Amino acid sequence: MSLLKRLLPAAAGPCRRNMSDIRTVTLIPGDGIGPEIAVAVQKIFAAAEVPIAWEPVDVAPIRNADGTMGIPQAAIDSVNRNKIGLKSPLMTPIGKGFRSLNLQLRKEFNLYANVRPCKSIEGFKTLYDDVDVVTIRENTEGEYSGIEHEIVDGVVQSIKLITENASRRVAEYAFEYAKNNGRSKVTAVHKANIMRMSDGLFLRCCREAAEKYPEIRFEEKYLDTVCLNMVQDPSMYDVLVMPNLYGDILSDLCAGLIGGLGLTPSGNIGTDGAIFEAVHGTAPDIAGQDKANPTALLLSSVMMLRYMQLPEYANKIEAAAFQVIKEGKVITGDLGGRGKCSEFTDEIIKKIESM
Ligand code: NAI
Repeated sequence: MSLLKRLLPAAAGPCRRNMSDIRTVTLIPGDGIGPEIAVAVQKIFAAAEVPIAWEPVDVAPIRNADGTMGIPQAAIDSVNRNKIGLKSPLMTPIGKGFRSLNLQLRKEFNLYANVRPCKSIEGFKTLYDDVDVVTIRENTEGEYSGIEHEIVDGVVQSIKLITENASRRVAEYAFEYAKNNGRSKVTAVHKANIMRMSDGLFLRCCREAAEKYPEIRFEEKYLDTVCLNMVQDPSMYDVLVMPNLYGDILSDLCAGLIGGLGLTPSGNIGTDGAIFEAVHGTAPDIAGQDKANPTALLLSSVMMLRYMQLPEYANKIEAAAFQVIKEGKVITGDLGGRGKCSEFTDEIIKKIESM
């Protein structure tokens, strides 16, 4: 048995369901603090008797025939088979020949929409206590298409790729998300005043999607205006949809408003499946010290359960985690406490068992 498998607790209990109701989820335990927070989530799922079985996979890059580094085939097969994954952070190796594994995963599984709900957590004091926004970021193109070249010595060019297909599917996803999650407004965030063609195309796709959802209000805002408004009065916004780079930046800004990356979940929605992940990195400075806050990965797993139509388990786990944070007795260092990752996890489990 691999070290990974021995580290991880067995699949969550079957509760009162049939074995056939148990769905398999690919688990990418990741690097740094990744395995610690993945174990925390697994323990909490076991306590809540969530009817899923974990399939841990290693995504440590392997060398392809052409010399580039890539995701092992077994990991790709697992996600393709299960159509659903939970992912801890992955270290991006620095050096030639390495592409970000996160980017590779997004490309491999066509994970076109990155969804990040940012909601104030009761009892955890931040500048605002009324943040409740969801950023939906186009996840496959824009400035992150990886098309860069040097024209002449000292002059490089980077292509921002915007396609109608990708813009339309993320715009429609944003409205569908708003409709299915009781949201009332979608804001398209853009700079079409400057990038008339690329952002102009994105905006047109948002306008066309808006016409199909007359019950959802639609507005268009410049990225700079949204940044200004967001730090002045975040309650002005509800669901925001935007191209890749803007989403990368704005979603971190929103995470800051609710207390940081340690608390922010996310989901990467694809055409044929989804991978949920914490938005923070591998935190090498605290890895292996039982200091990591598992909340972001846990809340990502809660999003995953809702996506899998298992809301009763999602609600239970989320309520337990929020209760522990609100009480503030056993919370991790990043939240201002002295609790270890394992103690915080045990506290959430106690709450679940008392429900
Ligand atoms: P980071 O998010 O790992 O760490 C930034 C700071 O936040 C550190 O002080 C860290 O201790 C703290 N922190 C992060 N998550 C925490 C948690 N759950 N609990 C408590 N404290 C937490 O960002 P950094 O240092 O820039 O990146 C480290 C590595 O992670 C890099 O190799 C980077 O490429 C990778 N990374 C991976 C991501 C992913 O897989 N989605 C996202 C961001 C970074």
